[in-house]
Amino acid sequence: MHDIGRFVLFDADPEELNKVDDSGWATPEDLVEAERDLLGFDHAALAWLVCQHWCIPDHVSEIVRDHHEYEEDCASRDADTKTRVIGIIQIADLLSTSGILQETGKRTEQELSRLITERCLHPCWLNPPIEPRRLAASCAEIAEESQKLIDGLGLGATTFC
Ligand SMILES: [Fe+2]
Repeated sequence: MHDIGRFVLFDADPEELNKVDDSGWATPEDLVEAERDLLGFDHAALAWLVCQHWCIPDHVSEIVRDHHEYEEDCASRDADTKTRVIGIIQIADLLSTSGILQETGKRTEQELSRLITERCLHPCWLNPPIEPRRLAASCAEIAEESQKLIDGLGLGATTFC
């Protein structure tokens, strides 16, 4: 749901979405920057408008709107549910773009945990919303489920397993 703005953009103007994707972004932060540079807005802002149009409750639509706000209130990441949920979304985004899921079958859980710590946790998080070791233990299942979705959607070029 948090990336519904990307789907709306794909439906409304797939060429513009392709321009963003062809810009070579590598991280979720790069993606937002590329969208702002090329489109003048980002998918999170678009998604917030969609949520408003669909009368999605504020506590959900605000998470959708803010899911790429990395600097906001970073020191108090564990202060409330909203910031913890945003942290989980950010870790999931980084996990999906970091290449770690493709490494799942080739690495031990300890190695995956180290990669998650290096690539998916923001340095300012005193208490990450999920422990890297716990996430590493779920990587194989996440990769398998992701592959099923990719296959089901006919997006076969990407392989996680
Ligand atoms: Fe996003």
